[in-house]
Amino acid sequence: MLQPRKSYARLSKYRPPLEGRGGKLRLDFNENTVGCAPQVVRALRRAMTRDGLSCYPEYAEGRVKLARYFGVKPQELVLTNGTDDAVKVICETFVEPGDALLVPAPTFPVYQFFHEVAGGRTERVYYDERFRLPLDHVLRALGKGIRWAAFASPNNPTGTVIPKRDLRTMLESAPQTAFVVDEAYHDFSGETVLPWIRKYPNLIVTRTFSKAFGLAALRLGCILTNAQTADDLRRGQNPFPVNSLALVGALAAIEHTDYARRYAAEVRANRAKLIAWFEAQKIPYVPSKANFVLTELGANAPEIGRRLRAQGILVRDWNYDPRLRGFLRFTVGSTAQTGRLMRELRRLRGLIESRDGRKNWSKFARFSSTGWVS
Ligand SMILES: Cc1ncc(COP(=O)(O)O)c(C=O)c1O
Repeated sequence: MLQPRKSYARLSKYRPPLEGRGGKLRLDFNENTVGCAPQVVRALRRAMTRDGLSCYPEYAEGRVKLARYFGVKPQELVLTNGTDDAVKVICETFVEPGDALLVPAPTFPVYQFFHEVAGGRTERVYYDERFRLPLDHVLRALGKGIRWAAFASPNNPTGTVIPKRDLRTMLESAPQTAFVVDEAYHDFSGETVLPWIRKYPNLIVTRTFSKAFGLAALRLGCILTNAQTADDLRRGQNPFPVNSLALVGALAAIEHTDYARRYAAEVRANRAKLIAWFEAQKIPYVPSKANFVLTELGANAPEIGRRLRAQGILVRDWNYDPRLRGFLRFTVGSTAQTGRLMRELRRLRGLIESRDGRKNWSKFARFSSTGWVS
């Protein structure tokens, strides 16, 4: 029997996202819940010609336009098949077996996954009970020799952002460590460190078209970093890293940014409504800057998730992880969708435990990273 690389024996179990989500209200994977701008669909239809599909992708013009959109030079941009692929490319470029990755816990599991595929080991720093990442713990860990560190800001599943001051301290304290700041949810937080790629040669920022732009199916992400690092990242990449249609969709999306901007504004308003309700009901939640809110609903959380599903509403249940029993994460969508979710939650109110404010978060703070599902 053929044996895969040694690192494969230690990999966490793959948990693919659920199937059969079509037609349901999908509040489980932090996608855009209303769909992309209609102009994007029209541009894709126009691009779907027999001639166009028979031709290998060309990137030069698209890269120039995307770079202009992000306010960087084309040499500072790397196209990837979504952020997942960006993480893979980063690992392929930097990680030798035995190298250390530093991640907060909890966070998006894909960083650890591809790092471990490459044979690396993972160090974690835990969020404290007030959902802050203790800077002194991070600095201590960095002092031990970390090859790269990954911070989603806003972070998934907490929705919290890394304070810029802290990030600056980290970048300056470990110039040999590559810092990846994953800004997948940037459109919902309004915060970015993208201009810093000119200042810090150890900073790599990632963006995606999967969230506010509503193009998760197309798989388009961008790595933004200094030209030298971008060049290194591109060197080991697939020669055709993204397909033509993904690029067509992304370019149409940045021509119609008003659409995504309006959607993000609507999500922010609905997030405030949802949080106000949790607050009024004394249901613990993490104050979020993203398009989702993590809550602790108590022992009945799985049952609540099941009942919502029976009503056609999918939410993300964290109960497969013993340290996150009782937690559900809700993606925030349009006003009508959030209204529908809140009506169902009110109906299920008897199943939800109340706690006083944010006290009961010690369990959450002990969380350590779990499987693959995001
Ligand atoms: C923090 C974070 N980054 C990236 C992604 C995925 O992005 P993409 O679809 O571009 O691979 C997710 C998806 O849930 C996420 O939570």
